[in-house]
Amino acid sequence: MPGTDNDEQARKTAETLTYQPGFGNEHSSEATPGALPQGRNSPQRAPLGLYAEQLSGTAFTEPRHTNRRSWLYRIRPSAAHPPFTRVDNGGLRGAPFTETVPDPNRLRWNPLPEPPAGTDFLAGLWTLGGNGDATQRTGMAIHLYAANSSMTDRVFSDADGELLIVPERGGLLLRTEFGLLRAEPGHVALIPRGIRFRVELLDATARGYVCENYGRPFVLPDLGPIGANGLANARDFLAPVAAYEDREGPVQVVNKFCGNLWAATYDHSPLDVVAWHGNHVPYVYDLRRFNVLGTISYDHPDPSIFTVLTSPSDTPGLAGVDFVVFAPRWLVGEDTFRPPYFHRNVMSEYMGLIEGAYDAKTAGEGGFVPGGGSLHNMMSAHGPDRETFDRASAAELRPQKIDDGLAFMFETRWPVTLTGQAAGAGHLQAGYDGVWQGLERHYRP
Ligand SMILES: [Fe+2]
Repeated sequence: MPGTDNDEQARKTAETLTYQPGFGNEHSSEATPGALPQGRNSPQRAPLGLYAEQLSGTAFTEPRHTNRRSWLYRIRPSAAHPPFTRVDNGGLRGAPFTETVPDPNRLRWNPLPEPPAGTDFLAGLWTLGGNGDATQRTGMAIHLYAANSSMTDRVFSDADGELLIVPERGGLLLRTEFGLLRAEPGHVALIPRGIRFRVELLDATARGYVCENYGRPFVLPDLGPIGANGLANARDFLAPVAAYEDREGPVQVVNKFCGNLWAATYDHSPLDVVAWHGNHVPYVYDLRRFNVLGTISYDHPDPSIFTVLTSPSDTPGLAGVDFVVFAPRWLVGEDTFRPPYFHRNVMSEYMGLIEGAYDAKTAGEGGFVPGGGSLHNMMSAHGPDRETFDRASAAELRPQKIDDGLAFMFETRWPVTLTGQAAGAGHLQAGYDGVWQGLERHYRP
């Protein structure tokens, strides 16, 4: 299906974007020269008749190294809006998740069905499950999206958490309060809590995954003995430059608040920030820039070595949720079973596939396909399927490049409880357990 005029316009725009690099930097940007005040945040009269406004992503008093806030200089203050009223949640659900009993089974889904024509990113969001409680700012939710239309006269913001968007099919142009970001399959976009944005499609359809993190904002993991560099490098995270809409007329602003959608119709676009500075900002990151580390002797490290971003908890080393990528890499381990090992994990693992195949799964009805996903809840036993086990046990251990896929994991400290729609979905695969059938005994003392 050819793209629409809107898609082409969005793509043209996407091809001209410039960025500011550096995760966690104190960025600053102005779309109009002189719009950003110097030497203070809130002058008696902000430049050019703009309104100054602070957006706090952490409590005012959190330590400096974790504090997140930005100052926005905008055509109208965010406070100038009519009341919000409840609107239908569509396929979105929020924590706490109470529609089903937590399921210890290993589960796998095919991709979402194609949505009806005219479905935009927001309407196309569909919650699989999650944990914690949005009102307590704990836990996370797993959403998928399938869309075939750009958001036009509406914007979205999420008071409940930050959104890590993982496109699997179709590029996205994200028009945010802070400026524009382009996220293609293989990239991730991180939209911090409370930031308003609109999603325009760069292709006829778009599909992907979203991790909604209710907990502490994502950070780059500490590197310990790895040293000062490696894994996801801070400079590869790209923040937008200021770009604003000067648009009068009705715009629907949809706010996700404690699990429900609320909407208000503004008489102007709230994407009207002419200048800004701060560190509570959105980013895009190309997963192919991930510096993959692994063994150069034997065994392989735990998959935490592939952590891109982590949401810390109050317990050192224990994440509310980790975002982990299985990117192209060399396997060289000697006398080593090279695919991911069999294991049971106190953490719960949701895996998705952006492209290609995953090296521990070859079989199963429906398979593990791009746009699909699997859930291995707390302590569920999983690992390579029989075919993979047989192949890897007999393989000649030459250096081997794994470069035919890009998979990822949302790994969370609490079990994932499914929504009713995920537990009863037509695209939930029957017989996923069959993947591990035929792993015969070889021990014959
Ligand atoms: Fe696992």
